[in-house]
Amino acid sequence: MARNKVTVIGAGNVGATTAQRIAEAGLADVVLVDIVEGLPQGKALDLAEAAPVIGYDMSARGTNDYADTAGSDVIVVTSGLARQPGMSRDDLLAKNAGIVKAVVSAAAAQSPDAILIIVTNPLDAMCHVALAASGFPRERVLGMAGVLDGARFRTFIAEELGVSVEDTHAFVLGGHGDTMVPLSRYSTVAGVPITELLPAERVTALEQRTANGGAEVVALLKTGSAFYAPAASTFEMVESILLDRKRVLPCAVLLHGEVGTEGLFVGVPVVLGSGGMERIFEITLTADEQAAFDASAAAVRELVEKLPA
Ligand SMILES: NC(=O)c1ccc[n+]([C@@H]2O[C@H](COP(=O)([O-])OP(=O)(O)OC[C@H]3O[C@@H](n4cnc5c(N)ncnc54)[C@H](O)[C@@H]3O)[C@@H](O)[C@H]2O)c1
Repeated sequence: MARNKVTVIGAGNVGATTAQRIAEAGLADVVLVDIVEGLPQGKALDLAEAAPVIGYDMSARGTNDYADTAGSDVIVVTSGLARQPGMSRDDLLAKNAGIVKAVVSAAAAQSPDAILIIVTNPLDAMCHVALAASGFPRERVLGMAGVLDGARFRTFIAEELGVSVEDTHAFVLGGHGDTMVPLSRYSTVAGVPITELLPAERVTALEQRTANGGAEVVALLKTGSAFYAPAASTFEMVESILLDRKRVLPCAVLLHGEVGTEGLFVGVPVVLGSGGMERIFEITLTADEQAAFDASAAAVRELVEKLPA
């Protein structure tokens, strides 16, 4: 039986680290694609040369040619620009929309049955671009954000309570940005909601740190943004799909009436298996949570309306 094949577009920090995790876990053969000549080839060769030491048999290939991506089971899209000095958010939106449209059109034509995982920011808007460019059904276009935001929340909960991260669980819904919605009453340590373990002001502080999680890393790094946790989060989604694990993970998916939202990609818990999004795991929100979710969805809509036609 042939091994699974994963294409990672964008051989930068997030893309290359995701490829490394996939190879080291022995999950699939990896094709790294970038627009820069030599970059994906060099990183793929380096990854292949780590295999004898670490002990994996997966192949890693770098290319600038989408023909090499044909027959991929999963396509991860990390290609994009970071915001440069003098570039407005709207400029970045238009530039990355152009990149995502081009790479998804090229990759989807080679792998018409693949499942797309979008990572490029602004995440929720880029999912809309990918859906249109691929022509794929909503079940096969997923955005990575909630797993990362949840991982950050879990890190802060574990640190605050002095417990293992393994025994924490966190739910973060909504758009990927400062309007995200951390759901503290569903965020637990060993099954106990953190709202029963911490005073309200500490819960709020951890929620705020989570919503600011990406910016906190950027402020420290000064150039570039987070990539270890984003790559680990992307890997978790790829693994659940390829191993048909049916993990319940928060992902950006196109909502059709779920959580009171129509026609927008917003983060909700999803059952992830070999079919991609197999089911949206609907939970009942309180009035305050629904209002926060609606505000987050409105922020996504604002961006989507600014997308170039
Ligand atoms: N969704 C999330 O939670 C999340 C988390 C972290 C990063 N991100 C986003 O992921 C993206 C990648 O981040 P990074 O740190 O890896 O950036 P990076 O600059 O290290 O890598 C981006 C790569 O994309 C490549 N690229 C640009 N245009 C291309 C094209 N047309 N075709 C193929 N490749 C192209 C670049 O050459 C570069 O190697 C950014 O948009 C970032 O904001 C999202």
